[in-house]
Amino acid sequence: MIETRSEPTFDKGLANTIAAESEMSYIDGVNGVLEYVGIDIDTLARSSTFEETVFLLWRRRLPTTAELEHFNAEIRREYQLPEPLWTTIQQIPATATPMHALRTLVSALAVHDEEADVNTPDANERKAIRLLARTPALIANFDRHRKGKEFVRPDATQDIATSFLTMLNGAPPTETMARALDVCLILHADHGFNASTFAALVTISTLSDMYSAVTTAIGTLKGPLHGGANEAVMRMLEEIGDIDAVEAFVKEKLVRKERVMGFGHRVYKAYDPRATYLKTFAGQLAEDTGNLHLFEMSRAIEKIMHDAVGAKGIHPNVDFYSATTYYSLGLDIDLFTPLFAMSRVAGWAGHCIEYLLDNKLMRPRCDYTGPHGIEYVPIGDR
Ligand code: CMC
Repeated sequence: MIETRSEPTFDKGLANTIAAESEMSYIDGVNGVLEYVGIDIDTLARSSTFEETVFLLWRRRLPTTAELEHFNAEIRREYQLPEPLWTTIQQIPATATPMHALRTLVSALAVHDEEADVNTPDANERKAIRLLARTPALIANFDRHRKGKEFVRPDATQDIATSFLTMLNGAPPTETMARALDVCLILHADHGFNASTFAALVTISTLSDMYSAVTTAIGTLKGPLHGGANEAVMRMLEEIGDIDAVEAFVKEKLVRKERVMGFGHRVYKAYDPRATYLKTFAGQLAEDTGNLHLFEMSRAIEKIMHDAVGAKGIHPNVDFYSATTYYSLGLDIDLFTPLFAMSRVAGWAGHCIEYLLDNKLMRPRCDYTGPHGIEYVPIGDR
């Protein structure tokens, strides 16, 4: 139990502040460890499914076969969007970016849910399932809308990864592709009090509602210092263009004191364990799909970064190799961050439900550095 202090301390960016307790994920940034409810992330990536991982995060234990079947059925029952949402998707300009569209559409789900403002644990769990089940249809069908394609409705015989890719591409994926996406969803499902999860908790701690919390989180994830980094990595690879140009590009960035996207982490000063797994994965997929040059460029960037700033604890993070992975899966670059959101809904919703069990308003203070005692001059005299 952490004791609350009566005297506030200044902690810019809350880097050294523990704001709550959680039983969901454990991060050891020094040794590069990530566990969901005590189970190593590598084991989950190899052996679990996204749905089973969500059950683990939300219920803090692995399901039996019957429990998992029931959980899968509960999710799939909620796949279909409220009918008016299809019109809402069509009303979003085709030029909008998918993250703006997703934030708007998740927010719009609330107005079609009678339980939107019911904050009991049971109602929140039902809303968590709806958010998890419906986000894939929103992302995939906004993409279809902007490309002038017919909508494809979710298929309740398919798991989340397969259903998403079927909607997106208008045809079922190969098993390898579906499994690759499923693993990415597992790896992104939760990560302690990252910025978007914390933002969701600020919102839910006012006793607002789950849709508002997840909408807040999506807006927060979008930034390039957080989930938006996966898109920024891919754009960087495109900008570099060729493996021979890597060294000059990275060195110039470092000289100009600019960020190399996909590197560094607030908590991990060792190798991000999700990146370890994704690196192998990205390599295999890139080879299978004719994108090996992207993987080779990524490895070259990593080598130069390792020599230049590795000693400072700056290593690839989850976004670095997920960029090549998503690209090899055939996804448009601006869908990378929405995919992160599709998975992280699990973490956002789980943390909201957990936090509400013993809610306390999230409300830090700021250190006022402005003047005092200034005279108010009437507008006509200024
Ligand atoms: N490239 C070059 N230098 C870096 C980088 C980077 N990507 N990241 C950190 N540094 C340097 C930084 O310049 C600073 O150097 P100095 O001490 O000489 O001034 C030092 O490392 C500490 O950086 P910081 O910004 O104070 O550290 P932070 O904990 O506030 O930042 C971070 C963490 C993730 C915002 C930062 O590493 C970054 O901007 N990375 C690039 C964006 C990125 O990949 N974001 C994804 C994060 S992981 C997934 C997620 O959360 O979504």
